Parts: sequence; structure tokens; C-alpha cells
Amino acid sequence: MKTRFLVNIVLVVTVVCMPGCKKKTPAPTEPQAKPEAKEARVMSANEESFGKTSEGREVNLYTLTNTNGLRAKITNYGAILVSLEVPDRDGNLADITLGFDALDGYLKMDTYFGATVGRYANRIGKAKFVLDGVEYELAANNGENHLHGGIKGFDKVVWKPEDLWANDNEALLKMSYISEDDEEGYPGNLACTVTYTLTKDDELKINYEAQTDKTTVVNLTNHSYFNLAGQGTGDILGHELTLNADKYTPVDEGLIPTGEIRSVKDSPMDFTLPMSIGSRIKQVGDGYDHNYVLNSGGGALALAARAYEPTSGRIMEIYTTEPGVQLYTGNFLDGSLTGKAGKVYKKHYAFCLETQHFPDSPNKPNFPSVVLHPGQKYTTETVHKFSTR
Ligand code: BGC
Repeated sequence: MKTRFLVNIVLVVTVVCMPGCKKKTPAPTEPQAKPEAKEARVMSANEESFGKTSEGREVNLYTLTNTNGLRAKITNYGAILVSLEVPDRDGNLADITLGFDALDGYLKMDTYFGATVGRYANRIGKAKFVLDGVEYELAANNGENHLHGGIKGFDKVVWKPEDLWANDNEALLKMSYISEDDEEGYPGNLACTVTYTLTKDDELKINYEAQTDKTTVVNLTNHSYFNLAGQGTGDILGHELTLNADKYTPVDEGLIPTGEIRSVKDSPMDFTLPMSIGSRIKQVGDGYDHNYVLNSGGGALALAARAYEPTSGRIMEIYTTEPGVQLYTGNFLDGSLTGKAGKVYKKHYAFCLETQHFPDSPNKPNFPSVVLHPGQKYTTETVHKFSTR
């Protein structure tokens, strides 16, 4: 007589809470029957030390894991996504983001690997803008221009952990940061939060919120460098990319938008149908470093991009409430950085899809507004959804 196995797996809920963080009561869990299950994987959220900053501040490494084995590691230094392990079509996990094994690499980097970028992601021309008749001068850290929030942007500050928990459906980490009035030249005290949520449906969601006490500009994004074949394994030229964007914003030599919104039609900028990233990259100088104007127009969560890597079968879809996305193909990686697991990062070894408002919007009245007034709440969401084919 055949033995009948009926394994009742009670999903264990891991809730870790650090001092000052709010503990949430997870939803009640029903016992589930999983006859074939070999391994009882659980949603979890954990915390460990990641070392000290140069000013001696302790920072942590948080790990969010889902029931399919997807694992995101995040540090509260720069609210950086340190690694993201995702299965290929055979179920083998690989870390698909560039970065460093230890905090030290992040303290020294100027590449923004995995970082939360703000107060204004991307460039502001001549590092200044006028708001309500007042001219604000920002830190110029990219020639005469301002890039990714300045000399000490949101990627180089310690974020305060607020929430860390997991239930049957998701594992979540929320962090906060208060950017003071005049920090890097911006007006207003800006209270921000970033929340990373890993869902049971293989999504990594990133939500931003911000409120100000003086009219200011805000544009927050995540600057992860992806290689869906596995970080450091080669270039990304064979990835197939689709962008839900009929238009883009052409730039000058300093990579500042000219203000024109141009059609991608009949040009190497066109990714409206799946195209390998490398097929026309030689026709765009050093590579892609452009903001695409999403057809959705922003507002509601909509599909912005899909990247497919044929050897591993990994697919990443990006949904966002933002009106734009910067496609950056790691043009300035030159082999001088050694990252995780001793991998050397060369030109085009990764691509970024930075969901955002358009670069230099504070100086471009025809671009969607990035102004935030006191009493308003800035909220945006970007979802990275993983699957295989
Ligand atoms: C920019 C690149 C820049 C890179 C820095 C990207 O968002 O578009 O021009 O070099 O960030 O890592």
C-alpha cells in the first residue's frame, strides 16, 4: 500500500522589530496543504549589522525573502538595494544587481549602485532653478550641472529604519530621512520615506513619500544596475528590451534635455517593440543615457519596461506611476571597479531603468511639474516584477 503524504505546512511568520520601529500584527494564517513541497520556504524579514560609516554610525543590512526564494538585501546607508537574487528558468538563483560585498565599497562609490537617489534624481542644468521668483543655487557635482541630489545626496546619508516585518503575502522594510532646509541648496525641510516590499508574487515594490514645509522640488528614484544573467557575468547587450514610450527627451553635450520631446520612430532610440539593447547602441555615442517619455503619462501604475535575458530566461517588468524612465547602459563603467564576488564591472555590464520625472524639469516649464508645496504629499510607486520564459 502506498504511503500517503499530506504535509500540513504552517507558514511561519517572521517579524523582526528594531528599537523605534512599529510592530505590525500580521494577518492570521490558515494552515495550507502542500503535498509535494520539499522545503518549507517562508516570507521573512531580517536584520544584521553592515558595519559603520566613516563618521562611526552603525548601519544595518536587511534581508527580505519570499516563498519562491527571491531575496532582496537592503542597507539603510543610502537606502541602497545591495543585492537581488532571482531564479532563472530552471529555478537557479543569481544576484542580478551590481554592487559590493561590504559597506566600504558603498561608502567610496560614485556610481550610485542600487541607491535611493534624491532630493532630485538626474540632472539640473547649471545647478540652479527659479521657484516663486527666488533663484536657488545647488551643489554643482557634474561639471557645471547638478546630478543625483548633489555632493551628499540621499544615497550618502543614513536612513532611519521605521518598519520591518513579514506576513504571508509580503516582506517589508520602511526607512525615513529628513532632508534639512538648504541641504545641497534645496529649499524646505523635506520628510521622506522609502518602502521596499517583496511580495509572494515575485515583485519588488518601491514606494516613496515626501512632505515639505516650504515649496520645493522632488524627484526620487532607485539607481539599481541590472544584469539579468547575473551580476558581473558579461555585458547586457544581448538583453531584449521593450519600452512603453513613443517619445524621449533629447539632450545636449552635458546630458541636459534641450526641452524638445521627440518621437523615437525610425531611430536607434526606438524600443517600442522588443529589441536587443546592443543592436543599435553604437549609433548613440557612448550608449543609452536618455529619459524616455512614458506613454502612460504618469499618475496611475502602468507598464513602463520589460527586459528579457535569453540565456537565463529571466524577465523583469517595471511598472511605475512616474511619467519617465532613464535608460542608462553603464556607459561610464570602465573595468576599474571590482564588485561583489570579485567581479570586475566593465562598460555595458549592466543597465539602469530609473523611473522618474524628466531631467532638468525645474528649468523646463513644458515638462511635468516636480514642485511640491507644503500640505501636499509626494507619493510614487515603482514595481519590479520577475518571471521567466
Ligand atoms: C545618469 C548617468 C550617470 C549615472 C551615474 C545615470 O542616472 O544618467 O549619466 O553617469 O547615473 O551613475
